Amino acid sequence: MRATGEASAKEIAHWRADTPGCRNVIHLNNAGSSLPPQAVLRAMEDHLRLEAEMGGYEAAAYARQRIAQFYPALGRLVGAEAHQIAYAGSATHAYNMALSAIPFQSGDVILTTDDDYSSNHIAFIALTQRFGIQVVRVGQREGQLDLEAMETALKKHRPRLVAVTHIPTNSGLIQPVAEVGKLCRTYDCWYLVDACQSAGQLPLNVNEIQCDFLSATFRKFLRGPRGAGFLYASDRVLHEGLAPLLPDLHGATWLSPDEFRIKPDATRFEYWEIPYALQLGSLAAVEYALAVGLETIRDRVQSLAAYCRTQLSHIPGIRVLDEGTALGGIVTLWRENGRAQRLQAHLSQGGINTSVSMRENALIDFDRKGVDWALRISPHYYNTSGEIDILVDKLMALSEK
Ligand SMILES: Cc1ncc(COP(=O)(O)O)c(C=O)c1O
Repeated sequence: MRATGEASAKEIAHWRADTPGCRNVIHLNNAGSSLPPQAVLRAMEDHLRLEAEMGGYEAAAYARQRIAQFYPALGRLVGAEAHQIAYAGSATHAYNMALSAIPFQSGDVILTTDDDYSSNHIAFIALTQRFGIQVVRVGQREGQLDLEAMETALKKHRPRLVAVTHIPTNSGLIQPVAEVGKLCRTYDCWYLVDACQSAGQLPLNVNEIQCDFLSATFRKFLRGPRGAGFLYASDRVLHEGLAPLLPDLHGATWLSPDEFRIKPDATRFEYWEIPYALQLGSLAAVEYALAVGLETIRDRVQSLAAYCRTQLSHIPGIRVLDEGTALGGIVTLWRENGRAQRLQAHLSQGGINTSVSMRENALIDFDRKGVDWALRISPHYYNTSGEIDILVDKLMALSEK
């Protein structure tokens, strides 16, 4: 079996030629931080040079029209409108901005899942400690979020917020976020989706998902820079006046000594200081992903990941950990008598980038699977099945020692 997805050899060669990092490494850590294409690199370099040559504020004014294109481009990526998009410093920044806007009262429930991102769980626990909020978690059934249990919990707890991570950081699972969205509309609660691993990996449409907020980063499957993310906020959020707990002079206007007015659009979730080189690099990354096509990307990523799982399953002592009805581009494995960092270092010495998740990154999932670490292999559309073969050969050689 070979993995091709829907792409032709010519397209793959073009994507690789356009990606300087492909000349140096076999990069299978796209769920960590992807290799950017030339266009992203150039957009950032050009703006940094402009800042150095004419001054930071002046460069921002000069590039104003191009910077403004960030918002409609992100709108095209997630099926939203420009006024519903905010720039953020990271996915967690975007997520916490949204979380801080939910009008929680003591006793309110946040309904989430066993597979949500660890920082999100930490934020929920922090909210329980400070504001007396309760967290209820729903687990899996037959390899994905248990939607029946979700509905039962919605009926029972009437949560203020439902929060679901679309693709967990530590497994191939794709959660049924649109089905959860339908339930949220029926039971009338706020709905926050962490799309950090799905943005750039799958087509996303906020109208199908029916979420109120969606947060993501650029550095992962979108192939943008580090230190950049975005938030989508629905018109319901904007019209009902939800705003971050601590807006600044960019998100709000100071009207009188004791009064401010929040901005009408989603930029109320931004802070004034924006690294424009990163924002322009992010814009270039989104335009690049849209030009490649999100369906093409999804098919190719899933095909490479499926190929990788099949090949790994033939290696003695290796257990592929991914379970799910719908599997995405994150492949996780555990190795008998193995040590996570040693395995990663062995691959790294062979020019292969992967990453490691430890138990504290995926507490509930790893306890359920009976492991305390996993090696994460995350191909992107510019990777090849030949690169996966090299990885598999290295792991096979290790198992024969
Ligand atoms: C599912 C998920 N959510 C959120 C994050 C956090 O993203 P950031 O580091 O940009 O805050 C990650 C990072 O790995 C992630 O995998």
